[in-house]
This record gives sequence, C-alpha cells and structure tokens, in this order.
Amino acid sequence: MSEREQTAHTTYADAYRESMEQPEQFWLDAARAVDWDVDPTRALDASAAPVYRWFPDASLNTSFNALDRHVRDGRGDQTALIFDSAMVPTKTSYTYSELLEQVSLFAGVLRDQGVVAGDRVIIYMPMIPEAAIAMLACARIGAVHSVVFGGFAAKELATRIDDAGPVVLVTASGGLEPGRAIEYLPMVEKALQLSATPAHTVIVKNRDQIPGSAADYKSSGAAWFDWDELIADATPAAPVSVAATDPLYILYTSGTTGKPKGVVRDNGGHAVALTWTMKNLYNIEPGQVWWTASDVGWVVGHSYIVYGPLFAGATTVMYEGKPVGTPDAGAFWRIISEYKVSALFTAPTAIRAVRKMDPNAEELAKYDISSLDTLFAAGERLDPDTYEWATRVLDRPVVDHWWQTETGWAICANLRGLEPMEIKAGSPTVACPGYRVEIVDGRGQLVGPDTEGNIVIGLPLPPGTLAGLWRDDDRYVKSYLSTFDGYYLTGDSGYIDEDNYVFVLGRSDDVINVAGHRLSTGSMEAVVAGHPAVAECAVIGIHDELKGQRPSGYVVLKSGIDIDPETLRKELVARVRDQIGAVATFRDVTVVQALPKTRSGKILRKTMRQIADNEEYTVPSTIEDMSVLDDLTKLLRG
Ligand code: COA
Ligand code: AMP
Repeated sequence: MSEREQTAHTTYADAYRESMEQPEQFWLDAARAVDWDVDPTRALDASAAPVYRWFPDASLNTSFNALDRHVRDGRGDQTALIFDSAMVPTKTSYTYSELLEQVSLFAGVLRDQGVVAGDRVIIYMPMIPEAAIAMLACARIGAVHSVVFGGFAAKELATRIDDAGPVVLVTASGGLEPGRAIEYLPMVEKALQLSATPAHTVIVKNRDQIPGSAADYKSSGAAWFDWDELIADATPAAPVSVAATDPLYILYTSGTTGKPKGVVRDNGGHAVALTWTMKNLYNIEPGQVWWTASDVGWVVGHSYIVYGPLFAGATTVMYEGKPVGTPDAGAFWRIISEYKVSALFTAPTAIRAVRKMDPNAEELAKYDISSLDTLFAAGERLDPDTYEWATRVLDRPVVDHWWQTETGWAICANLRGLEPMEIKAGSPTVACPGYRVEIVDGRGQLVGPDTEGNIVIGLPLPPGTLAGLWRDDDRYVKSYLSTFDGYYLTGDSGYIDEDNYVFVLGRSDDVINVAGHRLSTGSMEAVVAGHPAVAECAVIGIHDELKGQRPSGYVVLKSGIDIDPETLRKELVARVRDQIGAVATFRDVTVVQALPKTRSGKILRKTMRQIADNEEYTVPSTIEDMSVLDDLTKLLRG
C-alpha cells in the first residue's frame, strides 16, 4: 500500500461524519500512513462483539514503523530522541539511525535471552532513553512489554509481575527525584520474592549516580545481567512481522478495586490511530520537535513520548526532571527554547506548579519560546483558571484533551491539524473521529444538552483503544461493557453542550487523579485496613489546589485501641508509601467513630467527598444511620 496517500478531510465535521457512517473507509484510509507487511483489506472485525478487533488480516512491525522506515526514507541523520535530564544533569541525543541500532541490539539481547514473540517483558525504569529502547526492542521481536511506573513500590511491581507473567524484567539501578536517589534494585529483588511467578532474568542498566548493579544480585533466584555488557556482545535483531491484532503492550492502570487492570494494546490499530493523531490532532509534521513532559510509565508517555512522535518521523524530547525546582520554574521554557520545541504536552498540575512558583511568568521572559505553537494538556481536567493563566502568559493556544489509559489516545480534542476550533475553557472540545460520545443517566437513558450524567462511548471503540484486559475478558466486559448495553463506560461524568462540546467533570467511581497520576482508593484502603489498629476505613479523593485531588483517609479504630492520632497517621503514611509508593502521596488521616453507609453496607464515599469539599450533597434514602453523617459533617466542616 502506498504511504501517505490519505484522503485529506478538510473539516472536522467531514472527518467525524465519515468515521461514523463509513468507518471501514475512514480507517482503511488512515491505515495508508502505516507501513504494513501485509496490507489490511478490512478494518473492523466484529465477529466476537462486544470485543472488537481492528485490521484482522494485516501484519506489521511497530518498531519498523517507528524507526526503520524513517531511516529507509532518508531520515537516518535526523534526531529521533533528545534526552535532557535536569537531575544529573545531562543532555544526549540519538539520530534515527542511532536509535535503530540501539533498539536492534537490545532486541538481539532479548532474543538471546530466549524472549520470543508473545512473551512478556516487564520494564521498570526511570526516564532514561533505555526505557524507550527497551520498549521498542520488545516491539521489534513481537514481545509484549509492560512498563511499570518507577514511583510504584515492590508490592505493586509484584502484583503486575504476577498478572503479566514476564520472562524478563528490564530495570535500572534507579531513578532520581529532587534531593534523593531511588534505588530500584532492592525493590526489584523484593518484588521477585513476593511474586508467585517471578521473571527468571533481570537486565540492569547501571547509572553512575545510583548505587547497585547486576553483580550485587548474582546470588539471588533470578539471573541478573548488566545492560551494557549484554549490548557489547549482542548482534542486531530484525523486525518480526506480527498480526495487527497481536498485543504490543500491557499497561496496568488503577481500577476501583486494589487489583490493577492490565489494559492490552494491539499493534495495528495503535500504529494507525497514533499516526493519525500526530498530524490531525497535534499538527506535527515529520522533522518537527515534539515534547511530552510525562513519564514512560503512564499511557501519555507510551503514546506520546515514545510511539506517536516516532511513527510521525518527528523528534521526541524525553525529560528527566520536574516543572519546578529542577532547578526552577523556567525548566519547561528552557527546554522549549533549547530544542526549538513546536508543541508541548503536559498535565495541568505541572502548569499549576509553574504558576505557583512564577505567577508573573518572569522565568518565561528569560527564554525565547517562539518555536512553540501549542500547549496541549491532559491527564486531568484543565480548570478554567489555569487555562486562562497559561493562555495569557504564553499567548498561544492552550488545548485541553481528554483520554484514558484504556483509549490510548484522545476521546475528545480540538483537532489542531484538521480544523482548529474555538476553545471553551473547561472543555476538551468535541468527540474525536471514531468516538460516539454520549451522556446517559443512571438507567442508561440519553439525556439532553447541558445535563450531567455518565459519559459513555458507543461501541465499537476506534482503533488504538484497548483490545481487552490481559487474560481477563470477563473483567473487561464486566467493568466497561455491561453497565449500559452497547456502550463503553468511561467512568467519568460530565455533560455535552448545545455545540457538542464535551465537559468532563470528574470520575463517577472510586478512581482518583492526583497530580495527573491515576490512583485507586481501593488499593490504599487495603493497605490502611491492614494496620492492626484499624477496624475499617475509607479513602476518598478530596480537592487539592495544586494536584487536583489528594487522597484522604478516614479510619475507625478497633474497640479498645488507644493510639495517639499523630502516631497512627505516621504509621499509615509509611505503610502506604512502602506498599504502594511515594506517588500515592497519602498524608491525611482522620479518626472517626463510624463511616456513613447504606443499609446494604456500601460506604458513602461520594457523599463524604462532597462534605469534605464543601459541596452540596443529597443524602441517599438508603442511608443506614443519619447520625453518622451528621457527626462527620460537624467534624469536616467544623
Ligand atoms: N519514582 C519515584 N518516586 C517518584 C516518582 C518516580 N518516578 N515520581 C514521583 N515520585 C515521588 C515524588 O518524589 C514525591 O515524593 P515525596 O512525597 O517524598 O516528595 C511523591 O512521589 C509525589 O510525587 P508528585 O505527586 O509527582 O509530587 P512532586 O512534589 O514530586 O511534584 C509536580 C509535583 C506537580 C511537579 C508533579 O506532580 C508533576 O510534574 N506532575 C505532572 C504529572 C504528569 O506529568 N502526569 C502524567 C500524566 S500526563
Ligand atoms: P489515565 O488513565 O491515567 O490517563 O486517567 C484517565 C482519567 O483522567 C480520566 O478517566 C479522567 O478522569 C481524567 N482525565 C484525563 N484527561 C482529562 C481531561 N482532559 N479532562 C478531564 N479529565 C481528564
């Protein structure tokens, strides 16, 4: 199939209509921008509905699309990846040829360790180029990567190891946070001990700044190897052709229970969708510099630090550091000016952090950011106040877009490359092609404009969205597809206005969003409940000026327990930090006499959150004991 001969839609309305009325044509057309080994003749396979597959008769290799074909097409000397660490500090870059060489060699390493197509590889790494190299190397040999965010502790890592069943675990000696080094290897060792199905091979990229190396762990159960030593002896691996429907990766995300959900992404739909977004949504052309300030451990990092920009032949910036304090609130502007970044994608929390430190944008004034066309934001709601500030100080479009780990790319956006639309503060704009976004009430009835309800998406979801949950189709159907027949349940609530602009107000389940990090209150509750003094507990996400939300714990003590509240708080904070990780930022603990519940025993978390946030609330008629809620209100509202 010839490349880049897509139908050019001239308006959003045209593109959206075609994606709804002629999805086969729309997506086969978009598929022309991908380099296939076997071209797709069909787009959608609905034979196992409500579980759908895309491009069922095609095959390709994802790393070929990210690297080889750009080298083949004359982009070998163009910079593919810039690594800038404000922590070390260091700056390095890889051309497409150099990145291809490193990926091919590490793919050879994995192959020589016995990894074959379909095997899982866990990648537990900080923000260093080797994380991207390891991901692309897995893709090259058809192995399925599962990246675990470096802020998660050993127990969370062990849970993911047990679910994914990896052959190899790739890691580094550690990550760098302001003022401290996070040593990964003791956590990896502990995770392997906790795991029922540990990986038999561990590969360690040694970082000079952080102690620990593979050699220190020679005597433990698994075989530990040094990344550089293996690379030195490796021979490159060629790309392996896989079915478009084969899994590319599993990414675990927080659900409402303590057990994370293993979101599965395929190869073909992913390549088609991300390639389409780079031009149509982000307006990025080959050769432009693109920067996503996130982490490879999150979906935003998968899609737009690694795969999307490389599929597009752009230059991607990988940044190890924070928006503030490394060393100051000018860090983002430095990167933009230094590398001539065309578009930056970050989380609203990062913008709020910069604003807090530099409200008058004095740091910004020190840099030439004329290369920047657009600031994209996602990961949490872009509140109007932050939007107004960023638009004013940057004097360029600040574009919110809404998506989830499950979808892999935006559900709603302002498609800057297709047809820039008016921006309404507080809205990620309109449904992207392929997504039939609707609002339903609790009984599944469609509601009218401006009426709040559950945000749902009509099936099938477009290419690039989740193919299911890892080895758990039942949970996939139960969690997402069974609440409202024919719809995918996003878990978010919101409304659509008269102009079809979608407004996302927040989660309607027990998932919370702290600093753009998606966390499960259920897993924190499990840890808190494990404390010997705690009879029962509830963790809710309450409003936080900087991080959007923060977890807040309410505990009922076992009868007869007498413990100083500050001692208990410290012990619970340490427990959560140890078992989930620092990223949980669990710091608030309130001891209460009882938790408000329905007669069937369900804790009224939403009502508790509304009370804590000083919002209006209605008391469910099924409440068991009204006096519990009254006491809580007095406690929280003084
Ligand atoms: N490895 C180990 N620890 C980590 C970590 C990692 N990869 N990432 C964060 N942590 C730690 C932090 O050091 C901090 O520890 P502390 O409690 O000892 O200070 C804790 O986890 C909480 O981190 P965070 O909530 O990120 O707060 P912060 O103070 O370090 O930084 C911001 C605040 C606003 C600068 C930061 O949250 C940020 O940049 N947010 C943007 C989020 C983002 O990019 N999300 C991706 C989705 S688009
Ligand atoms: P994650 O899976 O980590 O990407 O988190 C997805 C969740 O983050 C969504 O379900 C929303 O609750 C929230 N979210 C992400 N982007 C936005 C946005 N632009 N506006 C509002 N909420 C968002």
